[in-house]
Amino acid sequence: MGLREDLAALTDEGTAAFAAATTQDALETARIAFLGTNGREKDLTKAFGALPGPEKREFGPLLNQAKTAVKEAFDAAKARLADVEADAPIDLTLPGPARRQGSLHPVSQVSREVEEVFTSMGYEIADGPHIELDEFNFSRLNIPADHPARDHQDTFWLSTGKLLRTHTSAVQSRVYPKVQPPFRKVVVGKVFRYEAVDATHDNTFTQVEGFVVDTDITVAHLVGTIRTMLTALLKRDDVEVRLRPSFFPFVEPGFEVDVRLTKADPASRFSRWVELMGCGMIHPEVLTAGGIDPTRFQGFAFGLGMERLVMLRHGITDIRVFHGADLRSLRQFGN
Ligand code: PHE
Repeated sequence: MGLREDLAALTDEGTAAFAAATTQDALETARIAFLGTNGREKDLTKAFGALPGPEKREFGPLLNQAKTAVKEAFDAAKARLADVEADAPIDLTLPGPARRQGSLHPVSQVSREVEEVFTSMGYEIADGPHIELDEFNFSRLNIPADHPARDHQDTFWLSTGKLLRTHTSAVQSRVYPKVQPPFRKVVVGKVFRYEAVDATHDNTFTQVEGFVVDTDITVAHLVGTIRTMLTALLKRDDVEVRLRPSFFPFVEPGFEVDVRLTKADPASRFSRWVELMGCGMIHPEVLTAGGIDPTRFQGFAFGLGMERLVMLRHGITDIRVFHGADLRSLRQFGN
């Protein structure tokens, strides 16, 4: 086909395409095809440019006619569609664009509940840094230098000699020198352990630490507090709690708390005892290190893994869900 025919085709097909466009999208598609940088008009303009001089004189006016015709058809279509849009009735009953509502991470949700439960029992919220001194994380908690918890295997040490706190008990060390009893404090925060990650262990998790110092504090207060907390947080009526003697250097006596849900599906992990937390009466050495007289005051402390609690509450069997950043999992806990 010669240039003359091509120009005629451009005019016919271009004007037809613009006339047929009934939506902005269709108009834009046609514009790209005929008037775009790689469109047909550009191709023919290039072909024209390659013609020898005498032929240019012949085809110049034809090219200009074609261009004008196509441009006019485009302008007309554009004006027509703008009018259509302006005239379109607005249906006020149509639903708006759906907006997905965000939600708090399940651990954050339960953290807030924990803080509520404890503030309602007269506790104050305390906090401390993630990057901690050996002194606060270990020494002041009566953890001797040769204790395995200080092992490089268990703790992330920084090149500065500081470490990522391995437990929220470090906040006890920070609070004691600043306050005199009686007091009740609760801490919710991240802790870090150099652990192999599997379904029940993560290297980063969240702990809740509670500690109370007063005169005449006993293990009975501790047990009562733990029961109250778990009943409120698990929102179940089948929570059974068991204390086993255990060892933590910063408490004496120390206990491990196990929990079982008596009405859980027998196939579920939670129909059997699940180790949930450590607790005990604050060691006199720890009080002394914090400037509190252990002959006048006693207290209890407990620390529990928040993720374990959330798993128990929602029947989650893999702790990796929490840091997996898979929104499909996390969205199920939207509130
Ligand atoms: N800090 C202990 C842990 O991380 C838990 C604990 C806290 C135990 C307070 C006793 C008292 O394992």
